[in-house]
Amino acid sequence: MNLTLNIWRQANANAKGAMHRYSLEGVSEDMSFLEMLDVLNEQLNAKGEEPVAFDSDCREGICGMCGLMINGQAHGPEVTTTCQLHMRSFKDGDEITVEPWRADPFPVVKDLVVDRSAFDRMIQNGGFISANTGSAPDAHAAPVEKKLADLAFDVATCIGCGACVAACPNGSASLFLGAKITHLGSLPQGQPERDTRVVSMVGQHDAEGFGGCTNIGECASACPKEIPLDVISRLNKDLRTAMAQGY
Ligand code: SF4
Ligand code: FES
Repeated sequence: MNLTLNIWRQANANAKGAMHRYSLEGVSEDMSFLEMLDVLNEQLNAKGEEPVAFDSDCREGICGMCGLMINGQAHGPEVTTTCQLHMRSFKDGDEITVEPWRADPFPVVKDLVVDRSAFDRMIQNGGFISANTGSAPDAHAAPVEKKLADLAFDVATCIGCGACVAACPNGSASLFLGAKITHLGSLPQGQPERDTRVVSMVGQHDAEGFGGCTNIGECASACPKEIPLDVISRLNKDLRTAMAQGY
């Protein structure tokens, strides 16, 4: 395939960015989207030009590092991570626009790389359980009902990629937050800190500048791990319960 790429280039966080246009020939439909960008960067390197900066790590859909806006959609036209998106989703002659995540709490570091440490700070504000250290507890010491174990497991698949925020017109991180609150709030180990957790994490969410949820649902549509929208209802229910108790 021969492609035309419009890519956001920005030298650093304070620089003024702009779209740059590149022609790329000989792209295989078997390449992943990131491998296609690797080919572009090899060509830029060969010409002595600055390669395009973008994030990636596992390239297996596990780590959540590789988020890009592709033709205006978070992670592109398939419901998957950018590293698992293959060029067979495009056709010869296509013009593809590639931008970084678009949300104020995710400032651009360089080109397509954004700073997602706002997610880390939310986790630091409650996305954990406190447990005494010591020998490993017996596996049956804290029985968990099967349907709750399944729910906790399903929502724990959130990889913190940030596509939900990038897709949301309000820049809300409610789906990410709902996944974490539902995960820990479903398990017995998460109960002692359940009320303080939700109040603290929602407070940090708002302090970071993420917007509120208005039930548009773009987040769940873009989520590569299919986190369902109802985790936001669970989040709101936990928050109401905690606030009613004076937390
Ligand atoms: S909820 Fe989905 S889209 Fe949002 S960070 Fe988690 S995996 Fe990514
Ligand atoms: S590089 Fe790890 S999920 Fe894409």
